[in-house]
Amino acid sequence: MKKILNIIASPRADESFSSKLGYAIIEQIKEANPGSTVQTRDLNLTPFPHVEVVHLAAFYAPEDSYTPESKAAVQHSNEAIQEIMDADILLISTPMWNFSIPSVLKAWIDHIARAGVTFQYSEKGPVGLIKGKKVYIALASGSFYSAEPAQSLDFAAPYLKTFLGFLGLTDLSLFRVEGTGIPGAGDISLEKAIATIVL
Ligand SMILES: Cc1cc2nc3c(=O)[nH]c(=O)nc-3n(C[C@H](O)[C@H](O)[C@H](O)COP(=O)(O)O)c2cc1C
Repeated sequence: MKKILNIIASPRADESFSSKLGYAIIEQIKEANPGSTVQTRDLNLTPFPHVEVVHLAAFYAPEDSYTPESKAAVQHSNEAIQEIMDADILLISTPMWNFSIPSVLKAWIDHIARAGVTFQYSEKGPVGLIKGKKVYIALASGSFYSAEPAQSLDFAAPYLKTFLGFLGLTDLSLFRVEGTGIPGAGDISLEKAIATIVL
């Protein structure tokens, strides 16, 4: 039995190829691990705010110095981090937008990167503090990036892998649904993508 945290970044709800690929991953996890549970965090339904000074001040302040304002500001971050800590598996379903990720996902990322909580700097460099979790990424793109000539234009997959690895989340598998922008090709691309899933 696994606890799955399902992070959804596409605003396209039932039409979203990345979300559909993500749900196919969930189905396979459930088949392999009966009784698994899913907590879904749709970043468009409950968006995280852009990190502002009030959030930064709270991130770096000791808890006993919190004001009501900083307590409220750090709550999004605490909740998001707790959700990850409670999960065995983190699934991120996201579109590629403008060669990278949608800003709702970046806002979530800015709330989970907390010095002393999810990473720390040591004499040997940065150390990720989130351990022992499996990560799956379901990435949808209108065009093709898994091979040249456009591979080097994909800033979404390398960025997510680098960032999550920085937090200690290094056991990561990424699956792509590509070419959704080609008229009529979306569903076939999704089928092909689902066939590539290996847990
Ligand atoms: C604002 C925006 C930016 C996009 N940028 C890219 C891009 O840089 N490269 C690409 O291949 N497709 C791009 N697309 C197409 C999406 O990646 C594609 O439609 C994908 O299927 C969206 O994921 P979803 O179906 O999960 O919403 C973009 C779409 C939107 C709406």
